[in-house]
Amino acid sequence: MIEQRIRAAQRMARIPPYLFAEIDRKVAAKRAAGVDVITLDIGDPDLPTPDFVVEAAAKALRDPANHRYPSYYGLRSLRVAQAEWYARRFGVTLDPDAEVLPLIGSKEGIAHLPIALVDPGDAVLCPDPGYPVYVTGAIMADAEPYRLPLREENGFLPDLSAIPADVLRRARLLWLNYPNNPTAAVAPEEFFEQAIAFCRENDIVLAHDAPYTEVAFDGYRAPSVLQFEGAREIAVEFHSLSKTYDMTGWRVGMAVGNAEVIKLLGQVKTNVDSGIFQAVQLAAIEALTEPPAEVEKRNAVIRRRHLLVRDALASIEVEVPLPRATFYQWGRVPAGFDSIGFAAHVLDEVGVNVTPGVGFGPSGEGYFRVSVTAPDARVEEACERLRTLRL
Ligand SMILES: Cc1ncc(COP(=O)(O)O)c(C=O)c1O
Repeated sequence: MIEQRIRAAQRMARIPPYLFAEIDRKVAAKRAAGVDVITLDIGDPDLPTPDFVVEAAAKALRDPANHRYPSYYGLRSLRVAQAEWYARRFGVTLDPDAEVLPLIGSKEGIAHLPIALVDPGDAVLCPDPGYPVYVTGAIMADAEPYRLPLREENGFLPDLSAIPADVLRRARLLWLNYPNNPTAAVAPEEFFEQAIAFCRENDIVLAHDAPYTEVAFDGYRAPSVLQFEGAREIAVEFHSLSKTYDMTGWRVGMAVGNAEVIKLLGQVKTNVDSGIFQAVQLAAIEALTEPPAEVEKRNAVIRRRHLLVRDALASIEVEVPLPRATFYQWGRVPAGFDSIGFAAHVLDEVGVNVTPGVGFGPSGEGYFRVSVTAPDARVEEACERLRTLRL
């Protein structure tokens, strides 16, 4: 028998090891040993999708017209609903035929965008710490991810003036993400204006990943990059129904903005996927069209959990700022720990799983992230346990 050998593509070796897989393994081992682990790690809302959205999907599911291949570019009625949502929420007018592209969740579009825009040797500017797909998407397009440190003293905004000239020359794409995962930072309007000017000057596409604009508290209203002057010349924005409507499993989002970029991303997608299941599209239209009462109700739940966790951590002298947006709290690990060591200590001592900051990139070292996406009773139990944590 001939022994077959599978050789991985060289780019696979450049994809960073997936720290979260190792964390999952540790949690599984604890559970197998009988520990009741509470996971405050992944940003996957525990709350159910609102009923009226589920009802719309159930109805659409029974209609055979929805069982066939959907359109590559989404139902026009979905693109119109997405454009109208942007108009209502941000005062941004979009052409549903040229400036809106439905996605199978925003992750899909984020991963595919570099294929449409960059060549081998080009640089993709990625926030560090950041959502890992910015870096892996660049690698899968054989480009070079260049990490922009997000430092606490700079409000977790990147210092665009610190990018070396040789990187800037090759830079074709800048990723930004506010409200931010994992730091929970929000960006002031001046920062968006500066970033737009910077990208226009340097011929860089600005991609703003904005899935958390609607997970916000105390009256904070996150902006869209597209509401600032000149953005449409160079910017696209990714939004998702995942976090806005507790629909992570449904896989529906959108890219909006610069028509040329939207067209190129659409061209990639016609060769990769065959669109979003139409029943999901019809449910998404319902979600986008309803008044935001459900969103406000959800935010009140998340806000309460944030307060509980913040207070529990403060009781053991771990000070974590209360976020203005997102499901996350981002804090410095106590003295004597690195981020992996602290997460392991919390898991070992009290059976609560938090995410080490370094999992989001080297500049996340020294921090940890808590996600308050477990049911209320579990968050309360986690808080009781955290209060007993010995440091
Ligand atoms: C910053 C950020 N962008 C994008 C996504 C992807 O969301 P989805 O693919 O569910 O739309 C996530 C999910 O956690 C995220 O945190």
